[in-house]
Amino acid sequence: MTDNSRQIDYWNEVAGPKWVRVQASMESRLSGIEDMLLARAQPRPGERILEIGCGTGTTTARLADAVGPTGHIVAVDVSKPMLDIARIRLAGHPNATLTEADAATAAFPHNFDLLTSRFGIMFFEDPVAAFTNLRRALKPGARLVCVAWAPIADNPHWSVPLGLAIDRLGPPKPRRPHAPGPLGLDDPAFVTETLARAGFTHATVRAEPVTLLGRSLDQEAEVAATMGPAGALLDEKDADATTRAELLASFRDALPGYADKSARMRATIHLITAHCS
Ligand SMILES: C[S@@+](CC[C@H](N)C(=O)[O-])C[C@H]1O[C@@H](n2cnc3c(N)ncnc32)[C@H](O)[C@@H]1O
Repeated sequence: MTDNSRQIDYWNEVAGPKWVRVQASMESRLSGIEDMLLARAQPRPGERILEIGCGTGTTTARLADAVGPTGHIVAVDVSKPMLDIARIRLAGHPNATLTEADAATAAFPHNFDLLTSRFGIMFFEDPVAAFTNLRRALKPGARLVCVAWAPIADNPHWSVPLGLAIDRLGPPKPRRPHAPGPLGLDDPAFVTETLARAGFTHATVRAEPVTLLGRSLDQEAEVAATMGPAGALLDEKDADATTRAELLASFRDALPGYADKSARMRATIHLITAHCS
């Protein structure tokens, strides 16, 4: 058992299969964030990129296109169900290597120009040890550009369904601060301190407003009942089918409060940058 074994099991047995079920909605809602990440990361032809928690490989494909045939991307994930989809998507990209491994402990070559991730770096049990391992994979002068979720209070697509689920089922088990999970890097001071302790320089965390591009109000209600903190609470409380259906309907009713008719939702992310000297 590694330190991250709980998250590895979770992403193979619970979250990965769920993500695959709502894959089209997830890819649509997060696409604007991918644009923002690429605009900041500026991947260039010929570069070597290490991507953490690549999931189903949407960002991977765009990064592979950006570095071109003279560059290379190594994309790492612990979730076999997510990687199975990424492998199909990346089949025509000989410059991409997909690896099933725990990024916190995997042995990487030491020659990457860019370390990047869209929401794949919040799940480490020991973030300083994990980022130290990742920093060692970078060349001097390389850059880190990643995104993670900002606090739940700035993300109504999560806080509203979670509030409704708590009203019905009671609160989740208490979590220690910075515990691995979607909100594990929601504290800018913790992120900059973690990166500094891992040997990065010039670490910055900028809160950025983004728009999640939901496909429809119905599909967004399904995502809220499946993924994120509300979906996790339904699992934690072992909600039965009737309760799930009633909560799904209440999420659907609440959506117009934070989304427009086309299911576009305000959200906030942290754009995290640092250097390797
Ligand atoms: C929220 S998903 C994001 C997936 C993808 N980056 C995207 O934006 O669509 C988080 C991903 O991180 C992966 N992950 C979690 N812990 C990991 C670890 N220790 N090493 C590598 N990947 C990890 C999960 O399996 C999952 O695919």
